[in-house]
Amino acid sequence: MANPFHLAWFLQGSSAQAWGEEWTGHIGASWMVPELFVDLARTLERACFDYVLIEDSSYIGESYGASTAVYLENAIAVPRQDPSVIAALMTQRTSRIGIVPTFGTYSHHPYLLARLIASLDQISLGRIGWNAVTGSSDYAAMNYGLTGLPEHDTRYDMADEYMAAVRALWGSWEPGAVVDDKERGVFIDPGKVHHVNFEGKFYKTRGPLNAGPCPQGQPVIAQAGGSPRGRQFAARHADTIVAHAKGLGGMKAYRDDVRRHMIACGRNPGDCKVLFMVAPILGETEELAQEHKRRRAAHAAAQVKQRLAFFGKLISVDFSDFDLDRPICDIEITTNGHQLNLEQFKRIAGTRTLRETMADYNATGLSVELVGTPDAVAAQMGEAMEEVGGDGYLFSLPNVSRRVLAEIEDGLVPALQARGLVRKAYSFAQFRDNLLDF
Ligand SMILES: Cc1cc2nc3c(=O)[nH]c(=O)nc-3n(C[C@H](O)[C@H](O)[C@H](O)COP(=O)(O)O)c2cc1C
Repeated sequence: MANPFHLAWFLQGSSAQAWGEEWTGHIGASWMVPELFVDLARTLERACFDYVLIEDSSYIGESYGASTAVYLENAIAVPRQDPSVIAALMTQRTSRIGIVPTFGTYSHHPYLLARLIASLDQISLGRIGWNAVTGSSDYAAMNYGLTGLPEHDTRYDMADEYMAAVRALWGSWEPGAVVDDKERGVFIDPGKVHHVNFEGKFYKTRGPLNAGPCPQGQPVIAQAGGSPRGRQFAARHADTIVAHAKGLGGMKAYRDDVRRHMIACGRNPGDCKVLFMVAPILGETEELAQEHKRRRAAHAAAQVKQRLAFFGKLISVDFSDFDLDRPICDIEITTNGHQLNLEQFKRIAGTRTLRETMADYNATGLSVELVGTPDAVAAQMGEAMEEVGGDGYLFSLPNVSRRVLAEIEDGLVPALQARGLVRKAYSFAQFRDNLLDF
């Protein structure tokens, strides 16, 4: 039997997400105290997921019509709490699953970031990852007093240096530095804690890190750069990559490319797990699953404006003036934001119009369409992974609710486990060890 594959979850921030969707109860009132998301982490831990990635973008959308209105009215990525808070809460109610908050290299000084992640790694006993993003919106940059973001590839040059600074800070504590020796009256061995004095072209930091050592030494790095420069960055630094790639051919090409880049920077390609986005639609029968798909599609068709606003925020494009009924291939669209998303969107759109494409619920980046009974979907997931060569999936569902989580935990995951496709128990206490287990 083939190796099992990995599962992770993409949580669209700590927010009133899925507001207005079915089965979300009182999310409009209860979002502030994020019990649903803590429940989500516990549920996914019972299902032996590798990690929960907590998305963040640090600003309220304003791309659509240069106004925040559509975002505020429809709860599109707003409100968003700081991901470190929900990450900390999740660590205290779980014991094995990895927790991966997102922080931007434009918004946090390397010392602040290194300290925050080290503290989270400590309180979780080695289960923290950092989703390292370079940002894609000038609005976000302006929230931090900048005039805008640097040019796309320069952001990755800066992020390479940023990583060096952060790693140096985490490395300022040698293993065994905390001796806790009451007899000698020594808590920390001063010979094992080092100054950093990092001075690069873009960043400067001193150290040593006052937070103390990370249980994982260097916490897990997650990344999602999709452009050629982004992939090079991810291949150099990441333990796991979350990817937009459409279709089995696209997924395989993406993974092969990452592995090639890893070899080029002297890394073992097995040391980074590339997970592809999916949003399974499940039903007790094939007909029920198809019915759920029809409902999802009808919902998307009724939300063209909101979906354009969401996608426009993601790629920093104002779609409000675009002719919805013109073929996308006839419209000039460019971005200094997420380039791969835009390219893929154009490819998926083909000769379709903006309205037609946005009404397609699956238009903005899922790898394989999964619709059916838990067993049928489990089989499809297994076949796709076999074709692609590994490493697993990132669930990204637009309608997060306890009902949807139960379908995954009690329906899909047991079906995957019965086929030997995913783990039935964690082998290790720490995040990276579980990630590299197979
Ligand atoms: C699954 C996934 C999750 C992402 N999460 C975030 C996020 O939370 N915050 C963010 O600013 N960017 C996020 N991104 C965007 C990436 O960091 C990256 O900018 C994007 O994939 C485009 O790649 P490029 O910048 O190399 O063109 C995510 C991308 C993907 C595919």
